[in-house]
Amino acid sequence: VRVQHLRLCDYRNIQEAQFLPCPGVNVLYGENAQGKTNLLEGIWLFTGGRSFRGARDAELVRFGGQRAELAMEFAAQEREMQGELLIEGGRRTAVLNHVPLGPASALVGKFCAVVFSPQHLSLARDGPAERRRFLDAAICQLKPAYAALLSRYQHTLTQRNALLKDIPRHAELMDTLDIWDEKLARTGAAVARARYMYVERLRAHAEEAYRGIADGREGLSIRYSSALGEETTAERFYAALVGRRGEDVAAGFTSCGPHRDDMELQLDGRPVRTFGSQGQQRSSVLALKLAEATLLTEGIGERPVILLDDVLSELDAVRQDYLLNHLDGWQVFLTCCDPAPVLRLAGGLARRVRAGELLEPDV
Ligand SMILES: Nc1ncnc2c1ncn2[C@@H]1O[C@H](COP(=O)(O)OP(=O)(O)OP(=O)(O)O)[C@@H](O)[C@H]1O
Ligand SMILES: [Mg+2]
Repeated sequence: VRVQHLRLCDYRNIQEAQFLPCPGVNVLYGENAQGKTNLLEGIWLFTGGRSFRGARDAELVRFGGQRAELAMEFAAQEREMQGELLIEGGRRTAVLNHVPLGPASALVGKFCAVVFSPQHLSLARDGPAERRRFLDAAICQLKPAYAALLSRYQHTLTQRNALLKDIPRHAELMDTLDIWDEKLARTGAAVARARYMYVERLRAHAEEAYRGIADGREGLSIRYSSALGEETTAERFYAALVGRRGEDVAAGFTSCGPHRDDMELQLDGRPVRTFGSQGQQRSSVLALKLAEATLLTEGIGERPVILLDDVLSELDAVRQDYLLNHLDGWQVFLTCCDPAPVLRLAGGLARRVRAGELLEPDV
């Protein structure tokens, strides 16, 4: 996938901007609040997903403007594509190759990208929920059926938890618990298995990406971890649910299952979350994102575009150099404040972003 031309009108703080990116690394630099992230977000919206900053559609239209218009020419599946996005009245609609598609979500799968934004650092810094969300989103991109499985699991879990809360007042409900345990065990085992397999495939790529970023100075290892053991089977999960019924009724929620699993990240054998430095945590998340991009490539048969927002801060020159000059074969959009990295960019293209405008570099 390659972005060939981008045009934004009345989008965020951008009144009108055009961008002809190069097929390699595109650096967007400039002071704070100039519109660098806005530009990346504009590209990201063509994936059909919501803003990676969690913005509501109405917030994307330039203050005082009526509607935002985004147009992008890109190459995907060996074809030239022309996408348009219209944001108006809090709604987002898409046109592809001059054919109206309706809601922007219809673009999913046409333009593929992987994004790193500083919010994703929570993958290395926060609790397991973030990492489960990462895995679930990544698997959904590869296997749309997984989304349905996951929502079935979550629905069953909600039902079982509601029942657990009712049981103390209506003891006779205890008999109905078995139906839910059985159903939860079946869907839960499938969820855990999909995640386990994904992490098994992700591992080698993440470890390799980390070696590249850190120039071999320390090693990342990742592992899917579950209280139910290496591989959660329906039988084992069911047995655990039955065994913990008493505790679960007392607590009012389900105390074991894939909704409590984690993906362990370690550097030279120590948890990244507690022992990783800022740069190491950032490098770990980046390695995960680059590995995600590699697996997505295997899934869709071509390389997604990589969007790296504010990725260079906290990284030393060696790590910055890897991102600027060694991501061969990928189209990358990278934002930073400091112009210094632009001088170290061996190939690629740099643009200065100022007050929502793209300018020639001044370094
Ligand atoms: N709908 C909108 N209309 C006009 N301006 C907006 C709108 N939404 C956001 N902005 C403005 O866009 C500006 C730039 O935002 P952006 O996040 O792209 O900055 P940035 O260049 O990435 O800065 P930083 O280096 O701090 O990350 C902000 O000052 C914000 O107030
Ligand atoms: Mg920004």
